[in-house]
Formats: sequence, C-alpha cells, structure tokens
Amino acid sequence: MEMVFNGVSRGLRGETRVPPDKSISHRAAILGAMAEGVTTASPFLRSGDCMSTLSCLRALGVGLELEGDTLRVEGKGVSAWREPEGWLDAGNSATTMRLLAGALSGIPIRCEIRGDASLSRRPMARIVEPLRAMGAEVEAVGEGNRPPLVIRGGGLKGIDYAMPVDSAQLKSALLLAGLQAEGETRVRGGKTSRDHTERMLALMGADIWFEEDAVAVRRSTLEGHEIRIPGDISSASFLLAAAALVPGSRLVLRDVGLNPTRAGFLSVLNSMGALVMESSYRETDNEPRGDLEAASAELAGVEVDGWRIPAMIDEVPLLAVLGCRAKGETVVRGAGELRVKESDRIAAICAELIRMGGRLEELEDGFVVHGPAKLVGARVDSHGDHRIAMALAVAALCAEGETVISGWECVDISFPGFAELLRTLI
Ligand code: S3P
Repeated sequence: MEMVFNGVSRGLRGETRVPPDKSISHRAAILGAMAEGVTTASPFLRSGDCMSTLSCLRALGVGLELEGDTLRVEGKGVSAWREPEGWLDAGNSATTMRLLAGALSGIPIRCEIRGDASLSRRPMARIVEPLRAMGAEVEAVGEGNRPPLVIRGGGLKGIDYAMPVDSAQLKSALLLAGLQAEGETRVRGGKTSRDHTERMLALMGADIWFEEDAVAVRRSTLEGHEIRIPGDISSASFLLAAAALVPGSRLVLRDVGLNPTRAGFLSVLNSMGALVMESSYRETDNEPRGDLEAASAELAGVEVDGWRIPAMIDEVPLLAVLGCRAKGETVVRGAGELRVKESDRIAAICAELIRMGGRLEELEDGFVVHGPAKLVGARVDSHGDHRIAMALAVAALCAEGETVISGWECVDISFPGFAELLRTLI
C-alpha cells in the first residue's frame, strides 16, 4: 500500500495523545501470563506486534480477553502453560520471540516459534547461547542461528552473564528464565537499555535487585497487578520531530511515558536547539509519565555515539531526518545494532533520504548527515519497517512537493492510525 504526503507550509498545531507503549504492552501480557492472579493492562496497544504476543499466549493456553483497549489476563503461573498444537507465530515481533523464549526456557514443553520474513533474518544466537548455558534446550534452526526457535525448557540453573550487546530483549529473556532457575541469575551490562521488565517485575513481587552494573533475580512467583500504560515515547518522537522541523509548529502530547532509559531522543532534540518541554511529571505502576510540548526552531547538527544509543535506539532513523534540515554535520556512531532491526535501518534511511535530496554517508555503525539540504518529494520505500515508513513521512512534511511511500501498511506494527492523526495536526 502507498501513502502520499505533501510538504506543508504551515506548522503542526494541536494537542493529542499517542498510542500506548508497545514495550510495556508486551510485558504486561507476558508477565501477567506468568503471574498468579488477574492482571489488567490499559490502555493496551492494539497493534500488529502486540497482537502477535496475545496470539502466542492464547496458543499456550493462557486465558486472556481484550475488550476495547483493556487487556485482562487470568494468570495461573507458567506451570499452567500447555504445549501448543502447532508453532507459535511471533509475526514481525522480536520482542515476542525473545521474551517468550526466556519464559519458555523454564517449562518442560516443546515449542517452536516462527516469525515473518523480516524476523526470520534477525540474530538469535544472543539468546540461544545464555539460555543453553542455563540448561534449556534451545536451538535457532534457521540458517546462521536465525529463527525459527525450537525450545524445550526446564531444569534451569542461574548464571552470571555479561551481555555482548546492551539489548533489553536479551536482558529480559534472561530475567524471565532466571525467575524459574535454581540460584541467582545475574545479567551484566544492561544499564542503558530500557528497563520496563525490571520495573514491572518489582511491581509484581519478584525477588529482583540491582547492583553496580548488574540486575539479578532469584526464583519467584509473580502476582497479577493492575498496569496503567502511558503513551509510547517512540511513537511520540515522530510527532515531536515533525514539530521541531516544520516552522510555526506547536504541539502538546499528553500522557507520554518518560522512562529515562527511553527518553534519550528528547535530550538530543534539545541539544540540536529544538524546544521540547516536559510537564505534569508523575509515576504510575513504577513508570514515569508526563506531558510534552514541542515547538519548531532552527536546528544545529549533533554528534551521538555509543552509550547514548540504547535510550534512543528506535529513534535513530529520525535523527537522520533532523540532520538533513539541521545546520552542520550530524554524526551517529556506535549504532551497529540498527543493521539487525526490522530492516537494516542504517542502509534503509540513508538510501531513502538520499532519494529526497539528503546528503548522507553510511558508516558501518551509523551515518554522517551534511545539513542543511533542501528535501524534495520522491518515491521512497518503507523497506517493510514501520519506523522507516514514519521517519520518511516526517521528512515528506518538510520536503517540496509530493512524496509517495510504498509499503506503508507496516506502520500498523506500532502506530495504527499514524497518517490520519498526523493529518489532523497539519
Ligand atoms: C525492545 C527493545 C529494543 C527495541 C525494540 C523493542 C523491547 O531492542 O529496539 O523495538 O521492547 O525490549 P533491543 O533492546 O533488543 O535492542
């Protein structure tokens, strides 16, 4: 499906909400299914990825209902999960595949988890090796340690593990396995990636604690909980970037998650000169949230590397768009993980922005953008990746003429209704 956007001459204006947080929605469903007692999560994100998590949990015999945007999970503990009849379909969602692999590693049933073409290209050795070291039978049967995953769990022993990459999905998989293991499971090197799993585990009564550069768990029974989910800051970022870029904009976004391990893009926007303000800061169910207000400004290039990347990992393609309109060079390094996301996001965003007149150079682990460049409408492609599609829509708003984005349907993975919402603000 194609979507057409035109360059806009007036700023984006208004006040709105963004869809519920995707990462927290996945975790509410999975941890709720592992817990004993009822978990309610609302508003739960009704998007492609989160529906994949719910369908896998249903196939495992977990009782759950999604009415409107309220999810109710009848948790009976992992011991009540049943061997599914066929394979589990994680769709496009690596979070579903990796977190479920961790949870299933503790249970003596056989499961196969498959994904779509994009997920089938993503690396799984990072979870297979430590889960095996804990004692689970786990194999990535696709070529080169890629999906499908075949798991037969049970008999786990805790490990002390230093992650080779700071990935929240890997950290979460090991913690979910660790809850079912004998002894302590300690995960090192995960301080800068999102910590929603740790926060929700603490809320649900897990035996979890934090050390200088580690998080550790012991065998625990989780208790069901009410979870109120804030707006997704990664979804909000597309609107914030559009407001920063289009002159005359002023946008207010209500009730957005402000977890510091997710908010890296806000500080980068500020250091580029954009005007983004937080207000009504509060915490519910162990997660910070608040309102955001953004206005357009003259932007200057910025350099971002290494340790700042995990807290803005999904927003890096947007930084390439901002760099095209900012004065000076924008340089991103230490973001090699982007090459193994839903698409090779470094190659995809550079190629498509170049089609629109951007001046970008690919680096192995990032890119350099020479700004400012005049962007012109063009035919561009989403590469089947929701975040590339929406980043290109933001670029289209500040380009001259018409931009046609092919493969637009992937936007439903995280932000159903994005184009319609954007149009109400123009
Ligand atoms: C996610 C973690 C991130 C992120 C993904 C969602 C999660 O991946 O890119 O969109 O919900 O845990 P990694 O932390 O594995 O890099």
